[in-house]
Amino acid sequence: MKEIFNGVFRVGKNIYTKNLTPGSRVYGEKLFVSAGVEYREWDPTRSKLSAAILNGLTTLPIRSGSVILYLGISAGTTASHISDIIGKDGLIYGVEFAERMMRELIPVSEKRKNIIPILADARKAEEYSWIEKTDLIYVDVADPQEMEIFIRNAKMF
Ligand SMILES: C[S@@+](CC[C@H](N)C(=O)[O-])C[C@H]1O[C@@H](n2cnc3c(N)ncnc32)[C@H](O)[C@@H]1O
Repeated sequence: MKEIFNGVFRVGKNIYTKNLTPGSRVYGEKLFVSAGVEYREWDPTRSKLSAAILNGLTTLPIRSGSVILYLGISAGTTASHISDIIGKDGLIYGVEFAERMMRELIPVSEKRKNIIPILADARKAEEYSWIEKTDLIYVDVADPQEMEIFIRNAKMF
């Protein structure tokens, strides 16, 4: 098992993160135990960040303790792996405007105390102006205005 980025481990063709909540899955992913530590397989067909890492991403500026604004967190599939990487000292402010996805995210955030779900529109950053300045912004809103949304949020947070 090789640590290829902070908190991201590779075994053969698969990558894994250390499960922050041992024994529980988020999206049906495989669990794997090595030397008494439980890891979650990070499925590249379910997460663009996993696919990017497996395709040779050279920099991953996420580490233990990072504070992240996540726009378009959806049900928390990718965010759950980021939650594993940042650990108990990190925090994800997860913005999602679809109530249906928020209903799926809430049980994930109840187990993972480092995810704060925010039901809001990422185009209206003033709705969550109360959050702190973050170390980075992860954007996956799948909207034609994605870049404008990112720039506006980056200026605020
Ligand atoms: C491609 S999915 C995100 C998948 C997620 N990032 C993952 O990897 O697990 C895009 C999500 O962005 C949400 N979304 C789209 N536009 C949004 C907006 N303006 N504000 C907040 N959420 C938005 C959608 O409801 C959807 O859940």
